[in-house]
Amino acid sequence: MNRTERRAAQKQAAAGPATASELTQRAIAAANHGDLAGAAPLLKKALAADPAFAPACDRLALVYLAQGKRDKAAAQYAELARIAPQTLNQFDVVIETLRRLEPDFAAALEAAQRGAASGAVSAAIGADPCFRAVLENTVVRDLAFERWLTAVRTGFLDLALGADATASGDVVAFAAALARQCWINEYVFAITAAEHTPIDKLKRGVEEALASGETIAPLRVAVLAMYEPLGALDGAARLTERKWPSAVDAVVTQQVREPAEEAALRAAMPRLTPIGEGVSAKVRAQYEENPYPRWVRLSAPPPPMVLDELIRHQFPTTPFRPLGRRDGLDILVAGCGTGRIALEITQSFAGAKTLAVDLSLASLSAAKRKTPAALKDKIEFAQADIMSIGSIGRDFDYINAGGVLHHMGDPLGGWRELIKLMRPNGLMQVGLYSAHARKEINEARALVAERGYPSTAEGIRAARQELFARPTPFNFMTLRDFFTTSEVRDLIFHVHEVQFTIPEIADFIAANDLNFIGFEFANQALHQHHRGEFQRRGWPLTDLERWDAYERDNPDIFANMYVFWVQKR
Ligand SMILES: C[S@@+](CC[C@H](N)C(=O)[O-])C[C@H]1O[C@@H](n2cnc3c(N)ncnc32)[C@H](O)[C@@H]1O
Repeated sequence: MNRTERRAAQKQAAAGPATASELTQRAIAAANHGDLAGAAPLLKKALAADPAFAPACDRLALVYLAQGKRDKAAAQYAELARIAPQTLNQFDVVIETLRRLEPDFAAALEAAQRGAASGAVSAAIGADPCFRAVLENTVVRDLAFERWLTAVRTGFLDLALGADATASGDVVAFAAALARQCWINEYVFAITAAEHTPIDKLKRGVEEALASGETIAPLRVAVLAMYEPLGALDGAARLTERKWPSAVDAVVTQQVREPAEEAALRAAMPRLTPIGEGVSAKVRAQYEENPYPRWVRLSAPPPPMVLDELIRHQFPTTPFRPLGRRDGLDILVAGCGTGRIALEITQSFAGAKTLAVDLSLASLSAAKRKTPAALKDKIEFAQADIMSIGSIGRDFDYINAGGVLHHMGDPLGGWRELIKLMRPNGLMQVGLYSAHARKEINEARALVAERGYPSTAEGIRAARQELFARPTPFNFMTLRDFFTTSEVRDLIFHVHEVQFTIPEIADFIAANDLNFIGFEFANQALHQHHRGEFQRRGWPLTDLERWDAYERDNPDIFANMYVFWVQKR
């Protein structure tokens, strides 16, 4: 050690043990200088200091990959999926990682892209914990990957119907992970006509063995769960009484125990308002059958934010009156669905207390079951119809109404009901469909209607395959929302959808004592881009006439939705 290094070490010792972040920075610096052998121990030390420090976990996986230690890298990525499930949201990055981990997978994807998917799973992929973590914890949002898994599933069906269906622990664990994926995507993968008879045979065999007490090969249970939820079997509850390998037991939990928990929560769900006849009843029926969205793991909680600071940061040039609540924030999430957004909001804001309402008891009970212990006292779920919510006798600092008003018989009436619950200076974040952005979706909706596809699982599967087979597929199919049954139903089979234009929104805002704060986009890069375009033209960001003109020139910019904030005057 030279004198400078000695001084740096002494300074560091005086400052106390290095934090996970500091150790990771040092590791990154070492790796950037090509010192991978020096980087790995620093990252391990960082993880010893804070086992949930995702950047260290991610880096260590990268270092292992660069060192050619693929087994260690895969284990590290599987751990990353556990501590930071949000890393699985960027599915293109997930695929790239899997390709780098397993060259066999790259070849399998290429074959699937050429329409020649093979049902083979190499021993390396079968044993890779990262593959299993992906299949178990997120929706596979890639068509080639889906096609490969669909072929793999057919291969498993043959295996399960073999004389004894024995398989190694890895094969059973991979099959169980695939079964969990099929449940997560609500059985959206295509089923060929040739599979129906073997599926029925497998199902009959499992049901008979459940009734007689005969042994059942775990692989058979996993494979059946790839095609149909185990909870729908005759005698399903008996599955919970048997001993299974842990991977299969996890499928039984997912498909039998957890739905039973939700049924119990459903019976006890508070009901704040009656549910209206007509559109509310029809929309409720859709979301009772297909609660939306399907999700598995909540993002890790970020450092708590203050709402005023978030608004100031997102919309620095917009005049707004601060709420002045650094702690304690009463939130309403209207149309919370299965609760992901409501839970994320609650864990994001300091001292948040949330009421989350929806029409669908199935959605609410899924949300309640998935509420982490740390949020249980901070969030309340209840059934309510927004059309009658003005009467609940409560008020809020912040109301979130994303993707819900446009499914109401009278969306503006529903919006006015919510405004009644806003405190002075209260903020509301609204998400509404754009008529300009949904032209392609309207075409697909018309096609579905014309072809008479029913909104059942089979109808949705068939419509989806027809759309994928089009010579020029619709752009929206590559968006995130096309890889689970409830997403496809929501997007192109919805029982009721109203679309808006910016002038309609502007008129409503002006007539209802609201101030427009600003539009939000899917990510910061887009947000900055559009803000930059307005600044370049010298247009105020709150000028809705300019936004209307800008959207007409760029009709896809609100493909997601119009997402915007308003404040009560
Ligand atoms: C597309 S989902 C959006 C869920 C959630 N806001 C999200 O963005 O993930 C629409 C939800 O709004 C609910 N909903 C529709 N009309 C409603 C109404 N009148 N009152 C309460 N909830 C309603 C549906 O039951 C459904 O769960």
